[in-house]
Amino acid sequence: MKQVLCIANQKGGVGKTTTAVHLAYGLALKGERVILLDLDAQGNATSVFPEGNSHSVSNLEEGREKSLYRIFRDGGNPRDVLISTRISGLKLGPSHSSLAEVDVMLAGKIDGFFHLRDSLETIKEDFDYAVIDCPPSLSMITLNAFVASTGLLVPLQVSKFSLDGIEAILEAHKNTVKRFNPSLKVLGAILTMFNPRTTLSQTLEPMIEPYLKLFTSRIPPSVSVEEAHMMKQTLFEYQPKGKAAKSYQGFVEEVLALG
Ligand SMILES: Nc1ncnc2c1ncn2[C@@H]1O[C@H](COP(=O)(O)OP(=O)(O)O)[C@@H](O)[C@H]1O
Ligand SMILES: [Mg+2]
Repeated sequence: MKQVLCIANQKGGVGKTTTAVHLAYGLALKGERVILLDLDAQGNATSVFPEGNSHSVSNLEEGREKSLYRIFRDGGNPRDVLISTRISGLKLGPSHSSLAEVDVMLAGKIDGFFHLRDSLETIKEDFDYAVIDCPPSLSMITLNAFVASTGLLVPLQVSKFSLDGIEAILEAHKNTVKRFNPSLKVLGAILTMFNPRTTLSQTLEPMIEPYLKLFTSRIPPSVSVEEAHMMKQTLFEYQPKGKAAKSYQGFVEEVLALG
């Protein structure tokens, strides 16, 4: 594995899932072997890949067995919960609503922070990149992702921006590095739903830069994002020549350039 990339921000609706899906799909389009891990119980990333949507499983027990819930419960090799997607090179570790139970399940377990890392260790030869879509919290699941990752990517949406929010992520990063994972790097922030013409955007950019390196690619607001999601497609399929697809393509290239 070259990199395990964690897409995190404890705020909801800032573009984590959209960024995770397009990064994973975009890396696969470049010929990389990628695993996308959907750690949000909402399963929004999973729903883009109906070829293996465990959310459609009605039986709770079956949903647990066929999703990443199982690796938080049992650890071990995740291979048999992984789903092949319509693009060769991209496998999905699906979410299930039972992931909402993981925090309680792991609380008080001495190795509670290490389940995901141990599990990814067993498949590290099979993939070049892992991309992790985190839930909107700094919960046990997100901390498992921090412990398992080499790099942290923070989607920021200007209208939901707060310095407190950034400080909380950086604090969690610092503690993870100190206690669990010295190799975790903050790779930077990606501005989503970004309109450079608003005054708010212009004032915030210089405020963010002392805390987080900003990727050059910025994702514009585009109705095609919602449309593509509804069609269960990525922008690379739905509107490959659109501005949002091109911006995500630029972002993928910036990430590849990090090595
Ligand atoms: N560039 C964009 N333009 C317009 N809408 C977007 C864009 N990026 C994300 N969205 C929409 O905003 C909402 C939140 O995005 P999402 O990626 O699910 O955020 P998160 O995972 O952080 O909650 C979704 O409805 C998504 O379709
Ligand atoms: Mg999400």
